[in-house]
Amino acid sequence: MATWSAPGKVFLFGEHAVVYGKPGVAMAIKPRVFVTVRKSRNPTRPRSPYINECFKRMGVWGSVYIRSQLQSSSGLGSSAAVTVATLCAINDEFGLGHAREDIADMAFTIEKKVQRGRASPTDTYVSTNGGIVLISGDARRRLPPQGLQLVVGNTMVPHSTTKMVEMVGDLRAKRPEIVDPILDAIGAVTFAALHSIHNPKELGRCMDMNNALLEALGVGHPTSSRLILAARASGAYGAKITGAGGGGCIIALCPKRAKNRVAGAIEACNGRAIITTIDTVGARKEKHD
Ligand code: PMV
Repeated sequence: MATWSAPGKVFLFGEHAVVYGKPGVAMAIKPRVFVTVRKSRNPTRPRSPYINECFKRMGVWGSVYIRSQLQSSSGLGSSAAVTVATLCAINDEFGLGHAREDIADMAFTIEKKVQRGRASPTDTYVSTNGGIVLISGDARRRLPPQGLQLVVGNTMVPHSTTKMVEMVGDLRAKRPEIVDPILDAIGAVTFAALHSIHNPKELGRCMDMNNALLEALGVGHPTSSRLILAARASGAYGAKITGAGGGGCIIALCPKRAKNRVAGAIEACNGRAIITTIDTVGARKEKHD
């Protein structure tokens, strides 16, 4: 029996714009998914196309048990974390000898297949390797870890990444003269943020600007706006939608002393708050009996 875990992620900057080749920055966060795989003649496992694909790719069969600290369909990368942890646990349980890079590649192929071609390698890369990652076109580069203090606010409004990406694509086709400059501006904010990575106040300001641009793309939601405003009013340096928007989650960058207050303000708006920071480990072995 092998148990592995893999972390979720947030987009710090640049979601949607990354789909059009602009830079984006994503970070692994502490909440994780734990997956146990056991060799078995009569395998039992949760009904999940991601898990089925993991076994198909690896060419073996086994039982699976999942425990998750990440809510699905909230933009925190839970499907990528499940896929990565499942592949790692299968690899370990059956002694298949795949390297970490193979796992990240396989996980991306699986996400892409299950999501009918609409997946960027960001979630699976970040979940496998942990840390902060700069995405630019097809390139992924790990950045030095930063002790950013974040509060994630889950609106509890489920969203569909595919639908939101499609919506921005349609708007761009209809109004390229407006949408292209917005995407360029998001790219510029991401670069500015990279230069201010050690200055939380400035980074917070960049988050606020990034959020305004996401709203302009139409991926806002009344509930996420409420949580963002509450987080700022209770002392966050800045706050923004994270991921595809249209519900899902927001992130607030906070001074350490304000984290609990910000989390309380989010909960008072009926959001679910998670106080978290960077995960630098990525996929991790928990147990092998
Ligand atoms: O909602 P999430 O966490 O899956 O993020 C989607 C981010 C997008 O930029 C909108 C799409 C993508 O594949 O990068």
